[in-house]
Amino acid sequence: MKKVIIPCENAGDLAIKIVEKTGSELASYEERRFPDGEFYFRLDSDVKNKEVVVVQSGYPHPNSSLIEMFLIVDTCKRAGAKKITLVVPYFPYARQDKIFKKGEAFSLRTMAKLLKKLGATKLITVDAHFRDDYKKYNLFGLDGINLSAGPELVKYLKAKFKLKNVHLISPDWGASEMIRNASKKTKSSSTVLKKVRKGDYNVEMSGEVNVKGKNVVVLDDIISTGGTMARAIDKAKKSGAKKVFAAATHGLFVGDALPLLKKTATYVVTTDSIVNETSEVTLAGEIAKALK
Ligand code: R5P
Repeated sequence: MKKVIIPCENAGDLAIKIVEKTGSELASYEERRFPDGEFYFRLDSDVKNKEVVVVQSGYPHPNSSLIEMFLIVDTCKRAGAKKITLVVPYFPYARQDKIFKKGEAFSLRTMAKLLKKLGATKLITVDAHFRDDYKKYNLFGLDGINLSAGPELVKYLKAKFKLKNVHLISPDWGASEMIRNASKKTKSSSTVLKKVRKGDYNVEMSGEVNVKGKNVVVLDDIISTGGTMARAIDKAKKSGAKKVFAAATHGLFVGDALPLLKKTATYVVTTDSIVNETSEVTLAGEIAKALK
C-alpha cells in the first residue's frame, strides 16, 4: 500500500530519513502555531485508501506532541486513510505505565486509547519504557511493535573507535532485555546491574562488574538526569575499564546531564529519536524495515 509520511514538529529529521529509506511520499500540509501556542493543521495530500505514517517524538513538549498527533490522526481518518501508523520511538507518558498508587491517572492507557479512538491503527516504538521485549504488542487496543536501537548503538561505537574486547553494562534490570539483545547481535559479553531509585536525582547501584582492561559500553533506554548512567560509569571505572562509553536510545539530558556525562564518559551517543548533539545513530533503517 502506498505510504504518505507526515513529520511532526519534534521529528522532522527522522521523518525525512524514513521517506528516503522507504521511497514513500512526503505529505504536503500546512502546520503552524496560533499566537497562543495552539496548533493549526491542514492536509493537502490525498491520503484516501493510503497508509499514513505519522512520525513524532514525545520529547520535548510531551503534551503538545500528543495534541499534534490527535489533530493529524483525526484529520487523516476523515480524509479516508486506510491505515494510520504512528512512529513514536519515544512515546510520551510511557513511564506512567501502571497504577503505582491508588487514585493515580493511568496516563499511558489514556493516550493509547485516545489515539486508537481517533483512528490510529498501529504504533511503532523503540526501546519503549513500557515493554521489556521486542515483539508485537497490544497497548490498550492499539497494535504495536517495539524495536531496539541497542545493536546499532554498539556497532556504531565499535566502528567509530575501532573497539575490541567490548563489554556491555546495563545499569538496571529494566534494560536487561535490551542488553541481552545487543550482546547477542554484536557478540559482546555483558553484565546487568541493579538500580534502586531514591528520588528523581538520586540512584544507588549494586552488583559486581569485572571489566579490567575492557572497553565498556553502558547501554540504557533513556538518559534523563544522567544519574543512572553516571553511577554505572563510575562502577566500570572503579573496576579498571580501559574506556567507558555512554549509549542510550533516547537522550533527554535534563539540566546539566550532558556536560556532566561528557566529563566522565569517553564518549556519549544516542539516536535521532530525540535530536541533540549526541544523536549520531539513526533509527530510520530499523523503522523502514518495520514499515514494510
Ligand atoms: C529507567 O527505568 C530508565 O531505564 C533509565 O535508567 C532512567 O530513565 C534514567 O534516568 P536518569 O538519567 O534520570 O537516571
